[in-house]
Amino acid sequence: MTQSAFRAQLLTFNGDPAQSSHAAVFDEDGLLIVEDGHVVAAGAYASGAPRLAPGTPVHELRDKLIVPGFIDTHIHYPQTDMIASPAPGLLPWLDTYTFPTERGFEDPAYARDTARFFVDELLACGTTTALVYCTVHKDSADALFSESASRNLRMVAGKVLMDRHCPEFLRDTAQSGYDDSAELIGRWHNKGRQMYALTPRFAPTSTDAQMRACGELARQYPDVFIQSHVAENTDEVKWVAELFPGHRSYLDVYDHYGLLRRRAVYGHCIYLDDTDRKRMAQTGAVAAHCPTSNLFLGSGLFDFAKADETGMPLALATDVGGGTSFSMLQTMNEAHKVARLTGYHLSATRMFWLATAGAAQALDLADRVGTLKPRTEADFVVLDPQATPLLARRTSRSNSLDELLFAFALLGDDRAVYETYAAGQRVHRRDAAREHATRKTKVAA
Ligand code: GUN
Ligand code: ZN
Repeated sequence: MTQSAFRAQLLTFNGDPAQSSHAAVFDEDGLLIVEDGHVVAAGAYASGAPRLAPGTPVHELRDKLIVPGFIDTHIHYPQTDMIASPAPGLLPWLDTYTFPTERGFEDPAYARDTARFFVDELLACGTTTALVYCTVHKDSADALFSESASRNLRMVAGKVLMDRHCPEFLRDTAQSGYDDSAELIGRWHNKGRQMYALTPRFAPTSTDAQMRACGELARQYPDVFIQSHVAENTDEVKWVAELFPGHRSYLDVYDHYGLLRRRAVYGHCIYLDDTDRKRMAQTGAVAAHCPTSNLFLGSGLFDFAKADETGMPLALATDVGGGTSFSMLQTMNEAHKVARLTGYHLSATRMFWLATAGAAQALDLADRVGTLKPRTEADFVVLDPQATPLLARRTSRSNSLDELLFAFALLGDDRAVYETYAAGQRVHRRDAAREHATRKTKVAA
């Protein structure tokens, strides 16, 4: 098999930086060796170089930083074309923009076109794994999975389940949602690098019958993911209490239907109490914190201190199109500010962990992605400290790893992503993408 190697600064993790000062592993002059889509070794150049097979090409990237590919734990691909649509809160935003936009996915050609653009955008931002909501239409999931499979990406996605409290044109039924989900699991789950997520949009848009059917699927397929929203907005929380009387909390509704477990990922988790958070910790369900969305829609502030205290598993997410950026760097930027507003210090090293190895661990994918550990899949990002004049000035003055990572998180976005690799293959090159865009603009003019 052919090896390839990358000489660069390397960052990986062997634990949570909040728990150990040795959790981040940084090599100033590092070597990453890749073979057959997997990592063979990552560490100091001096110790790795003698292991290289004769003739192995070494990519010289000594002025760049390689980190594991970013993991976005909550994003809606059908909302790509409505990003940056403002509304006075979640529920009016869903009615005014989201549902009409998602109707467009009745057309499989539109779904395919959007999926292609969406995946390009993820890769341009260095995101190699995402938990993706499709629409209620089965074809929308096929379009996303086909696009991901064609680039050999590790993606998790699912068709939305929604049989009430939305326009008629977007409804499935408990039975059709069950059948379509089972069919999609058969077609895509664990096919290559694709994985399926049961996707009840949120409790208000599913009847008791649909929630039960979803719980039944969860029992039948114990290793599929589950994704939904919980406790994002105060009006939503009130509505759920009216729709599901007798439950201790909003989270308890999902618990009742058997939807809290490992690989269950809940977007937002703002208005939880400690009993809820401890229940998340006990079941292994994961909170996907979506700071750009929470600020844009005015939803509220995620409580990092309470998450730490209760051991609630946590990861970061964009929540595009409620979120305002595809970039996990920009997501870290806003996460840091949300934390500050609650009096909590979120270090840059911890933010990089939450967007890579921490997310992989929370998602039960740590043996495959999220680090540069040997035998894991070679998904990684090459970051450019000189991407912009300001970033160059700031990074040249950084005195620690955390300062360097802060500069990337606070000042970086897709411009800072020089290259993205999935399963050892380059799937994005910033400068080629820029040249392509410039050529297209010239031809159009
Ligand atoms: N709650 C239910 N659906 C959605 C959605 O599409 N985006 C967000 N942010 N919250 C939701
Ligand atoms: Zn969402």
